[in-house]
Amino acid sequence: MKCVLANDHGGVELAAIVRKHLNERGIETVYLGTESHESVDYPDYAEKAVNEYRKGGYDFGILICGTGIGISISANKMRGIRCALPQTRYSAEMTKRHNNANFIAFGGRVEYPEPVTDILDAYIDATFEGGRHQGRIDKMMALEGK
Ligand code: RB5
Repeated sequence: MKCVLANDHGGVELAAIVRKHLNERGIETVYLGTESHESVDYPDYAEKAVNEYRKGGYDFGILICGTGIGISISANKMRGIRCALPQTRYSAEMTKRHNNANFIAFGGRVEYPEPVTDILDAYIDATFEGGRHQGRIDKMMALEGK
């Protein structure tokens, strides 16, 4: 498996935890930063990650900002991206099974009810169900640009 990971200054610590976890799981990770606490703009990091993902060969992308909100909204503005912002293992699993989310976002300043690495694993280990869910995704993606 291969993923791309990017974060703003609000996600530096969480990104380090996530990178270590991905490494332990043997998931190849292309990391685009930032590793600095200096203020940056989350849309820039969403764009970098999506552009890298579009090069191909990636299974998914991970985005982290303070809340996960700004960076996920930014990514979702880009064609073909379905970036989920789950708060629990359940929603992380379901966003793969039903929405086939290709990006997942987290908030570095958010207190999650479960460890983010568990939430991430629930997403990674789930499988898209296809069928009626594909039809809904087709409708969802047809909303792009409206
Ligand atoms: C940066 O201070 C913060 O606004 C950003 O990390 C994120 O939480 C935005 O949604």
